[in-house]
Parts: sequence; C-alpha cells; structure tokens
Amino acid sequence: MRAQDEALTLLQKMKKYDIITKTLFGFEELLATELRELGATNIEVLNRAIKCSGSQELLYKINLLSRTALRVLVPIATFAASNEDKLYKKVRDIDWSTYLGVDQTFAIDATTHSEIFNHSKYAALKCKDAIADQFRDKTGRRPSVNTEDPDLRINVHIADKLVNIALDSSGEHLDRRSYRLSRTEAPINEVLAAGIILMTGWDGKSHFIDPMCGSGTFAIEAAMMASHRPPGMFRHFAFEKWSDFDARLWRKIRAEAEANICTPTSKIVANDLDAHAVSMARQNAARAGVGKLITFANQDFLATHSEAGAGVVVMNPPYGERLQHDGLTAFYNEIGTRLKHFYEGFDAWIISADLRALKFIGLRPSRKVALFNGSLECRLHKFELYSGSK
Ligand SMILES: C[S@@+](CC[C@H](N)C(=O)[O-])C[C@H]1O[C@@H](n2cnc3c(N)ncnc32)[C@H](O)[C@@H]1O
Repeated sequence: MRAQDEALTLLQKMKKYDIITKTLFGFEELLATELRELGATNIEVLNRAIKCSGSQELLYKINLLSRTALRVLVPIATFAASNEDKLYKKVRDIDWSTYLGVDQTFAIDATTHSEIFNHSKYAALKCKDAIADQFRDKTGRRPSVNTEDPDLRINVHIADKLVNIALDSSGEHLDRRSYRLSRTEAPINEVLAAGIILMTGWDGKSHFIDPMCGSGTFAIEAAMMASHRPPGMFRHFAFEKWSDFDARLWRKIRAEAEANICTPTSKIVANDLDAHAVSMARQNAARAGVGKLITFANQDFLATHSEAGAGVVVMNPPYGERLQHDGLTAFYNEIGTRLKHFYEGFDAWIISADLRALKFIGLRPSRKVALFNGSLECRLHKFELYSGSK
C-alpha cells in the first residue's frame, strides 16, 4: 500500500467537519435552503458562501446535487500572518503528507483582500514553495504543480492578516455542468440561471417559458430541476482524486440520485428569434439529457402569446454592453407591452445588465434583485401579470 493511501486523511477519520460552500452574490439564502435539505447542520450565512457541518457524504452530495453551489471547500487551517515569510512558515507547519503524496500534483488558488498580501499570485507562490519544501526536506523530492488538472486543489483565502487554507473538493467550478458546449453570445451562468429559477418559486408543474433562450440555459436548468436530474451528473469532481475517496459511497449517492429522476408534467418552452441560437439550445439540451422535455421554436417574442394556464416567464433580453441592439429602450418597452397583453396570469422575471433599459418595460416590478452575471452587475425584476397590470 502506498504511503499516501495508508495516511487516510483526517477528513475520513473525522465523522463531521466544516464545509464552506461558495455561491453567487444574492444566492446565500437559496444555498442555505439547499444545504439544509441535504442534511447540513450548523448553517452560517457568510458573504457569497455558507459554512456548515457535515460528513463526507454531505460533501459528495453538495457537489453532485446543489444547483446554487459554485465550489465546495473543506477548511484545514486558519491562522494570522503579518507578512509573506510568516505565511510561508505557517503553511509549512501544516502536515501536507496527510493530504498529498509526493507523486501527486497540486495547484493553489489564492484570493487576497489585504494590504499586506496585495498580489494573490505571489501569496500562492509562497504557499506552493512551503508545501514543496516540506516534501523536499522529508523525502528529498517535491510534488509537481499542475494548474490544469491537479490531484489536489488548495484554496488560500486571505482577508487582511487572516489566512484560511482549504481543500477544494469540486475542482472546476460547479457552474460547469458540462452540457453547454455550444455557446451563443452573452450566455447566462448556469448557477445564476438555476438560482433565478429557484427564486421564482416555480413549482416544476406549471409552464416555464424562456422566450429569448440563447444557448438554452434557463430552459435546460428548469428541465433538470423539474425532472430531478442532478446538476453534476455529467462531470467529475476533485474529491474523486483524494486519498480518502470512498468509491462505494460515491456510487451509492449517484445511484440514489439517478433513481430519483422522473418525467415532469410541466411544459417547458425555449424560443429565440435567432435560428442558430435555437439549434444550439437544442444541442445543449440533448447533451443534458433533457432535449425531449423542452419545446423549442424559432420565434420573435413580440409575436407570441402565453400558453393557456399559469406559469413563469424568465428572460434575459439583449443588453447594450455585450449584445448590440438598436433601439434597446424601445425594444424593452415592446417586451413590457407584449407581456401585459399576452401573458396574463403569468409571473415574468427579467434579468438585464442594462438597468436603464429595464425601466422602459413600463410595468411596475413587484420585486427587484441585484445579481451579477460574471462581473456584470444585473437586475432581476419580477412582474406579476394580472389583468390590468401597470
Ligand atoms: C442575452 S441573450 C440570452 C442568453 C441566454 N439566457 C443564454 O443563457 O444563452 C439574448 C437573446 O435574445 C434573443 N432575442 C433578441 N430579440 C429577440 C426577440 N424579439 N424574440 C426572441 N428572441 C430575441 C437573441 O437572439 C439572444 O439569443
């Protein structure tokens, strides 16, 4: 048995440990609800993250099943460091052989909000040296760095002098669901789309319409949600390479999640004016295994009307910064008019990075939420389209 296998990590031996799950700005409460449903305890809401207690099973489940998680971290050390040498020393004091074998590769992601550590890359370099030097002193060899596909991804977060070191159990961010290979311009982040759908309170049974679907993200996330498909079912996770990886437990969790998949009764609609976008959305949906659950059409929203019955319209119309659109404000005004006269009984949720254009919808929002699509600040407005809405 290899040394790294013998040294089954502390994580496996400890029944419960802290887990920090990162999310997008504004999604903390949604994530907290998801984590509670997955069995997390001691939930603490942080800025763009939730801290909770849980077991290895919970760690695997969050990665596979959470729709609003971006990455799942397991903290292993917290300390104060007033300069780079102290950072190096403290990182070197951690027994890295617990987590990493000398033949394995590692990578460090560092974020710093600190006047002392104002270059995150330099802080990462110091941590990398500390880890490599510890192995060199003990074994005469150093593990290699692999930033693309490391065996162990280490997360370093520094706020002022406070350093948090954590193991990243996700690897690639969890919004990379692996179904969206075809991208139209200005696609919405998958986690952002899923969180918005959760925010709408859509029950998975009434109609769901994205009349400007682009690459199809909203409709695909809605279909995955309504059919209980795990968002992470097509991808791998960093914890699968950890020395304490429990393949049996992982197979059991996956099998249970897959057995839960059902066929929804709701009608999910994805339309777009651009035929190329519709074709991409179709391909992406097929890759996500939900192609048959979505009705696609190449249609101008301004010539459509709602399905009979109630439901939710979610749309992300073009906006100035990333998509050129002449007469954007007039266009937004036409969207509002179309919603008012042809989508009665529906709730419409519109997300846009063009805060000025949103005002031209001409209906009174019953809710306004600030969100970010990448670095773009957006607003999500809810319009309740009852008869005679203003
Ligand atoms: C910002 S993109 C939507 C991106 C999408 N949410 C995604 O995740 O890929 C806006 C989309 O609106 C579509 N669009 C613009 N005008 C439209 C109209 N009148 N009717 C329907 N779709 C329209 C564009 O073709 C474009 O695909």
